[in-house]
Amino acid sequence: MDLSLTEEQLLFQKTARDFATKELAPIASQLDEEGRFPSEIVKKLGELGFMGIAIPEEYGGAGADYRCYVLALEEICKACASTGVVMSVNNSLVCDPLYMFGSDEQKRRYLTPLAKGEKLGCFALSEPNAGSDAANQQTTARREGDTYVLNGTKIFITNAPEADISIVFAQADKTKGHRGICAFIVEKGTPGFRVGKVEKKLGIKASSSSELILEDCRVPRENLLGEEGQGFKIAMATLDGGRIGIAAQAVGIAQACLDASIRYAKERVQFGQPIASFQAIQWMLADMATQIEAARLLTYRAAFVKDKGDRFSKESAMAKLYASEIAMAAGVKAIQIFGGYGYMMDYPVQRFFRDAKVTEIYEGTSEVQRMVIAHSLLA
Ligand code: CAA
Repeated sequence: MDLSLTEEQLLFQKTARDFATKELAPIASQLDEEGRFPSEIVKKLGELGFMGIAIPEEYGGAGADYRCYVLALEEICKACASTGVVMSVNNSLVCDPLYMFGSDEQKRRYLTPLAKGEKLGCFALSEPNAGSDAANQQTTARREGDTYVLNGTKIFITNAPEADISIVFAQADKTKGHRGICAFIVEKGTPGFRVGKVEKKLGIKASSSSELILEDCRVPRENLLGEEGQGFKIAMATLDGGRIGIAAQAVGIAQACLDASIRYAKERVQFGQPIASFQAIQWMLADMATQIEAARLLTYRAAFVKDKGDRFSKESAMAKLYASEIAMAAGVKAIQIFGGYGYMMDYPVQRFFRDAKVTEIYEGTSEVQRMVIAHSLLA
C-alpha cells in the first residue's frame, strides 16, 4: 500500500480541514448543547461535494476514491462527530448501495440528488429485535401485483427525521430466513410511512436518530433495490463500507482528544510547571498518539482494499473495532488530563468522550466486528 497521498486526496483533506476549522469547530459545542441538526452545514457539505465523495460524477458525486472520503470524514469528525455521522450515513449507507445495486433509473432518480447533497438519506435496518442479529427482520413486505406492502417498525435510524429517501429492509418470505429479506427505496411522504419517536442520546446529539414506522406502506416494485431476497447481502456489503466511515469518525474524535490534551497540558501549570513536563501526562499522550496512528493506518488500509475492488469485510471490521476502542480510550485519557475541568461541560473533551462511545456500538458493535474478523480468519 502506498502511504503517500495523491494531489486529489490532499485536496479533499485540506478542503475538509479548512471548512471544519472555520465553519464547524466554532459552533460544534453549541450544536451539541442544543441537540440541533446542522441543516446549514449539511447543505454546505453538499456544495463541497462531500455528500457523495466516492460516487462517479455522472451520478452527482465527486468521482473520488474511498481514501478521499476517509480523509475528509476524519477532518469533519475532528470538529463535530455529529455532522460526521450525517455525512457518513449519506455517503456509505445510502449512496453506496444505490450505486452498487441500483438500476440505472434508480441511480438517476435517487442517487444523483443524494450524492449532490440536494437530498438526504437514511439506512433503516435496525429493529427492536434485530440489532446485532440483523437477519431477524420482523418488518414484512407483502407482494401485491406491482407493489410491496411494508409493515413494521425500525429504530435508532440515523438521519431518519430529516431524510428524503430511506433504504428500508423487510422480510418478504420468512421461510427463506435471511434469503427472504429485500431492500426498498422509500420516499418521504409515502402514505403509511412516518417518523416515530425521536431519541435523546448520550452523544452525537446534533445528529438525529428516530423510529420509522411503516403501516401498510405501498412501495412500487421498481423501488426494490437489487433482486428479491438480496436484501441481507446488500445490508452486509453496505455495512462493510459504512464501517470504514465509522473508523474514520473514531480516528477524528481520538485526534480531537489528543490535540486538546496537548494544548491543555502545555498551558496548565501545577506544582510550578506545565503538566506536560510530567511523565505521567507524557505517557498518556504518547499512547494516544501511537494508537491513533495505528487506527488511521488500519482505516486507510481498509479504504485502499475497497478502492482496489477486493473483498474488505475483515479490513473494515478491524479498522472500526480498533479505531472505536482507541477513540473511547482517548476520551477517557483526555478527561483525565483535563482533571476537574474535563468533567465540566465548559470544555469540549466531555463531548468527544460522549461522542466516542457510539462508535463502539453503531454499524455493528465491537463484539460483532470480532465475529466478522473471526469468521473471516476461520473461513
Ligand atoms: N457481504 C456480502 N454478503 C455477506 C457479508 C458481506 N460482508 N456478510 C455475510 N454475507 C452473507 C453470507 O455469505 C451469507 O450468505 P449465504 O446464506 O448465501 O451463504 C449470509 O450473508 C448470512 O451470513 P451470516 O450467516 O454470516 O449472517 P449472520 O446472520 O450470522 O450475521 C452478522 C452476521 C455479522 C452478525 C450480521 O448480522 C451483522 O453485521 N450484524 C450487525 C448489524 C449492524 O451492523 N447493524 C448496524 C445498523 S445500521 C447503523 O448502525 C447505522 C447508524 O446508525 C449510523
